[in-house]
Amino acid sequence: MKLKILILPGDGIGVEVTREAVKVLRQVSNVYGHELDLSEGLLGGVAIQQTGTPFPDRTRELALAADATLLGAVGLPEFDNAPPEKRPERGLLGIRKALGVYANLRPVRSYRALLDSSPLKNHLVDGADLVIVRELTGGLYYGTPRGISGSGAEERAVNTMTYTRPEIDRVAHMAFQLARGRRKHVTSVDKSNVLENSQLWRRVVVEVARDYPDVTLDHILVDNCAMQLVLNPKRFDIVLTENLFGDILSDEGAVLAGSIGMLPSASLGAQKSSGARTGLYEPVHGSAPDIAGQNKANPLGAIGSVAAMLEYSFGLIEEARALNAAIEKVLDSGRTTADLKPHGKPAATSEVGDAICELVTKAYAVAEGN
Ligand code: IPM
Ligand code: MG
Repeated sequence: MKLKILILPGDGIGVEVTREAVKVLRQVSNVYGHELDLSEGLLGGVAIQQTGTPFPDRTRELALAADATLLGAVGLPEFDNAPPEKRPERGLLGIRKALGVYANLRPVRSYRALLDSSPLKNHLVDGADLVIVRELTGGLYYGTPRGISGSGAEERAVNTMTYTRPEIDRVAHMAFQLARGRRKHVTSVDKSNVLENSQLWRRVVVEVARDYPDVTLDHILVDNCAMQLVLNPKRFDIVLTENLFGDILSDEGAVLAGSIGMLPSASLGAQKSSGARTGLYEPVHGSAPDIAGQNKANPLGAIGSVAAMLEYSFGLIEEARALNAAIEKVLDSGRTTADLKPHGKPAATSEVGDAICELVTKAYAVAEGN
């Protein structure tokens, strides 16, 4: 199979974790006999530095032409005080919107080898396995009017939380379809005791649920959800929520996995005429400028995002499974980066990438009986 992929390393540790993710992607393609057609582009702070804008037109063209995009991270402290349109994060919002990737899947699970890396009690975390389905192209992130106006005591800031019925409908369908391949349980998160926005959200989700009588639906208010995620994470299978709530809850969810460096994500859009889905794949973590360039960032979230890409954009289930198994094996072996607090000397970013490549190769050879 030919895999046409755009690589956007972005800023900070995005560069080094993406390097490992690409290394692994090459190895998987070699082993399983796929042809790679890779291009590379600029997004975020590095794009502002080189072109003056966080989401250059060239990047937009490359992304629209590719079957899938792999992204590292965006954000640099030198832009902290820049106006919103000159911030690296605007590049990320721009590409999400341009690709129309409205559903962001953030799987969160505990790993046996990492139980002690989580600050939560082992019995609470052990066996936790959920997917946050975050709406990604609507809500407060994109709503208008927005902006800051006036001055002095008259200064005022506005953001708008807005959702249309079709926006809620399509992401809800995605959540229910995913639930069918899992434990058939969707929990929809909202703030319907206060927000009209959430009232519409809940109504539309209830209507969508009628198409999936085999899937159980329940509702939870976002504040309570934040508490239940750490009190009783095993009660969740699919967590369906709007953009900002999903952003916040997914960082909280990282505590279950032991480190935010572990979390992959897949952002999916509409089905193309070819049948493939548009996909943008990125680790959940940020650019961590404090440790950038030191070869110590955890590449497993980025590598897990490659697995998600193989599965969702290319339907390469076997390859995805092999890669996820390799991730688990690396964790068991203890050859992991400092954020996972291994017993011995922490491994470097590049060593973790090498270990994954070896494991994938070995597992394939064993399966083929070579
Ligand atoms: C995320 C990030 C982004 C978001 C930032 C970098 C704009 O926090 O992907 O979770 O808020 O969506
Ligand atoms: Mg976030």
